[in-house]
Amino acid sequence: MTSNAAQMVVDAANPHVDPDLRTPVPGTGAEGVEADVRARRKTRDNELMGQVQRLLARMRIAVIYGGNKDEEGSVLYRTHNPRSWKSYEAVASDIADSLRRLGCQHVSLMADDMRLADRLREDDIQFAWLNTGGVQGYCAVSHAPAIMEMLGVPYVGHEPLTAGILDSKHTFKRQLKSFGIPTAKFVTWHAMRGPLNPLCDFDFRLEFGEYKGPYVVKPVSGRASLNVEYVERTEDIPEVAERIFEATQSHVLIEEFLSGREYCVAACGPLIARDGALTRLDGPFTFALVERVLQPDEHIFTSMDKRPITGDRVRPLDPVADEPQVHALHALARQVFVDLNLETLVRLDVRANAEGRLNVLEANPKPDLKAPVDGGVTSLIAEGLAECGMSYDDLILSLIADRLDLVLMQRRGSADHLQALLTNCEA
Ligand SMILES: Nc1ncnc2c1ncn2[C@@H]1O[C@H](COP(=O)(O)OP(=O)(O)O)[C@@H](O)[C@H]1O
Ligand SMILES: [Mg+2]
Repeated sequence: MTSNAAQMVVDAANPHVDPDLRTPVPGTGAEGVEADVRARRKTRDNELMGQVQRLLARMRIAVIYGGNKDEEGSVLYRTHNPRSWKSYEAVASDIADSLRRLGCQHVSLMADDMRLADRLREDDIQFAWLNTGGVQGYCAVSHAPAIMEMLGVPYVGHEPLTAGILDSKHTFKRQLKSFGIPTAKFVTWHAMRGPLNPLCDFDFRLEFGEYKGPYVVKPVSGRASLNVEYVERTEDIPEVAERIFEATQSHVLIEEFLSGREYCVAACGPLIARDGALTRLDGPFTFALVERVLQPDEHIFTSMDKRPITGDRVRPLDPVADEPQVHALHALARQVFVDLNLETLVRLDVRANAEGRLNVLEANPKPDLKAPVDGGVTSLIAEGLAECGMSYDDLILSLIADRLDLVLMQRRGSADHLQALLTNCEA
């Protein structure tokens, strides 16, 4: 794709795109103000590009992946993982390689476990990239960001509270509801409450009314469609819910089954890189729109743990042929990002109901960032980059530059050691 065509894709996708590229309406007096805003932004973006380049070369960065509780010395006492554990080390290594290609001189990989603070101190780490779902426990995705906050190490990743909300589907869905963002009807169940009897449960009847199924019963914290089950009849819910509770020891989500098409869309902060140069949008960047193609009898999308993401299973959306869905997905992703005050990358899983109305299933707080390999297995996000004229390294640069901008400009006093690194470089 030419860079002009790629620019058009980004513009169409993000209607509030880079004001540098918009033409003010003549005769409204807006030209002078626009020109001033543009000039100031340009200056700041040039300054930021310089700062990012210097920091990339100078900062000591750790890319953090999930620690393994079975490894000696990783935890004091082994506990339960409600969310199926994965190390994500291979992807952390892809991210580290990309950072090195972007000019980082000091990049190390570290496991997210009880030795993390010591390792960060020993290696003199000044900045972290969190590619971890945690080692163990009920809010494992929020442990690494919480440790970073405590230690004062700025990082690419969600704040602890946000990470926890995004990884608790029921809590996230309550937030969606409060903002009027469509999501499937649902109730939760926990064994502590006693046996589930949907036919006479007040909350169940209040939520589902006359709806008689089918349903999806799934863990509140999960990944890769593990333990997600399609249930045809109301009377079969308790048995499935009990099985999922047994496996996860946590709340179980019972949702209406949305029978329409399934989509994914990614969203991140407004500062993006193309061909290594930064551009600032005036809203979140929403991209990598794909349809997950379901087979006629496939109710639950088979995860990449079981079948690789290949072209016949994932179809990039066409801005023209799929215009209504493209428009709706960009709007939905923008709304979720803005309303929930998100600050870095998420990937929304979205599914239409029988009438075609899009509903948010979940927002993955740490979407797969496996680097693309020629003709090989890929990730949903990396697949969608070429369409926007971006490479994998551009995405990594976008995410780190966006965070550095946030830390330097909006969190004054929260990264004095990075300011000092800049000042020392400039001296
Ligand atoms: N309410 C629902 N209606 C229809 N399909 C669903 C529903 N909830 C989940 N699914 C299916 O199950 C898959 C996994 O569910 P999801 O909520 O994304 O959990 P996970 O964290 O395992 O990815 C989805 O990709 C979708 O195919
Ligand atoms: Mg999912």
